[in-house]
Amino acid sequence: MRQVIRVPCPFPVSRLLPALALLILATGGAHGASIDPDRSTVLVTGSNRGIGLAFVQHYIAQGWNVLATARAPERADELNALAGEYEHLLVEQLDVTDGERIRELAAAYAGTPIDVLINNAGIYGDTEGQAFGSLDAGTFHDVMAVNVLAPMKMAEAFADHVAASGQKKIVSISSGAGSVSRETMSAGGAYYSISKTALNMAMRKIGAELADRGIVVALVAPGPTVTDMLQNNRPSLVPRANTSEDSVAGMAAVIEGLDAGYDGRPLSFDGSTVAW
Ligand SMILES: NC(=O)c1ccc[n+]([C@@H]2O[C@H](COP(=O)([O-])OP(=O)(O)OC[C@H]3O[C@@H](n4cnc5c(N)ncnc54)[C@H](OP(=O)(O)O)[C@@H]3O)[C@@H](O)[C@H]2O)c1
Repeated sequence: MRQVIRVPCPFPVSRLLPALALLILATGGAHGASIDPDRSTVLVTGSNRGIGLAFVQHYIAQGWNVLATARAPERADELNALAGEYEHLLVEQLDVTDGERIRELAAAYAGTPIDVLINNAGIYGDTEGQAFGSLDAGTFHDVMAVNVLAPMKMAEAFADHVAASGQKKIVSISSGAGSVSRETMSAGGAYYSISKTALNMAMRKIGAELADRGIVVALVAPGPTVTDMLQNNRPSLVPRANTSEDSVAGMAAVIEGLDAGYDGRPLSFDGSTVAW
């Protein structure tokens, strides 16, 4: 007779379940989401709210595969609800300051062409920490890490995916706040403005790296748009600001029109050029 030896499991099932749930979220969700190779594919960072969520809504409605990344998908209720409705919407965990996770995600999607990579995630940064008189080094680092270094690391990690696609576009969300040549300059928000100026140069540099692979690296600006960022940091602009849907509809049209003739300048949601 065979004797069954029961070895107590060192990890009780109840403790494994939350980890399993996270693993499912990290691999595209539990609803059987998938990439359809016959559709165009977009990857959006910071896609759980604001302009990023509006990009997801726009492209999924257009029939694209959407790789929607968010740093805390377990709290991304609107995004998860949308993912429940659309088979080709995949939700992935990504904090854009986590270089290892960026590489892991790129490896998980190796061989998947990505037509448009949208570096949307951004922070304004603590207002006090970037105010003249209380300039804080940690705040500077945080803003530059999310708004400048992360788009560069994303471009680096996903260049092969974009090069393998039909459209070959890397788009980063810039801002008129980064324009150095304005005649009048408002005080405050220095790190945010500096980060967008630096992003502009960062993407020109990446564009030079990737031009021979046929990749267009573009800067697109939404104009003042009613999101948490604007409401919390520039509330005076809210009355004349766009809705996220309107600025995304405009930016998506600009992105669609990008071709090899693009000269590297930031383009506004209405197609006009944003001054350097
Ligand atoms: N709204 C405007 O008027 C305006 C104008 C010009 C340019 N922009 C640019 O447009 C982009 C989107 O801004 P928004 O107005 O939609 O801002 P928002 O409402 O504050 O949303 C910012 C998004 O970025 C995400 N994010 C922040 N840090 C992240 C990180 N480390 N890793 C991953 N995701 C991160 C946030 O995720 P969490 O929810 O986890 O924080 C959120 O999804 C930004 O690049 C911004 O600079 C906005």
